Amino acid sequence: MGYGINETGQFVPEDWWQIVFNPSFPYRLVHMVLAAYLATALVVGGVGALHLLRDRADAVAGRMFSMAMWMLIVVAPLQIVAGDFHGLNTLEHQPAKVMAMEGHYDSHPDGAPLILFGIPNAHEKRIDYAVQIPKLSSLILKHDLNAPLAGLDTIPDADEPPVTIVFYSFRVMIALGFAMLGLGGWALWCRWRGRMLAGRWLHRATIVMGPMGFVAVLAGWITTEVGRQPFTVYGLLRTSDSLAPVAAPAMAASLTAFVLVYFFIFGAGTFYLLRMMNMPPATRHLGLKDAPNRTARAGKPPAKAIPGE
Ligand code: HEM
Repeated sequence: MGYGINETGQFVPEDWWQIVFNPSFPYRLVHMVLAAYLATALVVGGVGALHLLRDRADAVAGRMFSMAMWMLIVVAPLQIVAGDFHGLNTLEHQPAKVMAMEGHYDSHPDGAPLILFGIPNAHEKRIDYAVQIPKLSSLILKHDLNAPLAGLDTIPDADEPPVTIVFYSFRVMIALGFAMLGLGGWALWCRWRGRMLAGRWLHRATIVMGPMGFVAVLAGWITTEVGRQPFTVYGLLRTSDSLAPVAAPAMAASLTAFVLVYFFIFGAGTFYLLRMMNMPPATRHLGLKDAPNRTARAGKPPAKAIPGE
């Protein structure tokens, strides 16, 4: 959709709207927006948890933590469901990517197992030490335990994505998705028992999970981009044929400039943000001498509204 092949066999974009709003667009949009919510909630929750560990009566930190934990318990299950739908769409449009994600070197005519863990062996084209659940992959991807699933043995070697990277990055993303759900569930349980703002281990775990939204986003992105190799446009345009006619020194110079500029901008930004996160929540900056309500309980807003809220 939205492209043509010219007389010399080259891929030529024709309608950018069709290319942008391609069949995977809605799935990617939903999955990415939910990923952004989760990553943000984890940072907010992690900062709240840090300040609760220092002072469990800090009402502003308590509110940050509470809101973040609500976000996790609502959005993490949605993300898992959205991810599942996304995978079905990928199976339809980029089957080799799913074969690599699943670690299916071989085809399974009578139902494919779900490989939970294992070590991809690219030379022998198999997954070593695989821990797997029989037929579950067919159930997830085809909604039928015995549905046949094609493996990488059905595609030419030259069209095979780098399985090892995709296999691991996919598992990192999934594991973190379930860890987010677990954290949200743990917080809900503590909230129900009235101990959410006092749970030291819950707070420590949330600090550890603080950056994990970014890690999951990067793992998802790697799965997507490495999984479609060796193509820039799946099945149509090889990455090796997508090179722009720009000389290597020019590329090297612009890459170096990017690396340097980004290093300084992100370095300064990260330093500034970490310093801000380390400061107690901004009751003073908001014009209050002390926390508005130091006895605020889990999930309940402080008695006095904070200016600006
Ligand atoms: C736990 C269940 C999850 C499932 C089943 C799942 C499924 C998927 C699949 C199948 C893809 C690749 C699709 C493709 O390229 O065609 C993907 C990509 C991605 N995932 Fe997940 N995912 C899950 C959790 C997460 C979480 C928790 C995050 C981040 C917080 C995340 C962020 C991403 C991102 C950023 C991409 C790349 C999207 C793109 O570039 O289009 N995923 N996910």
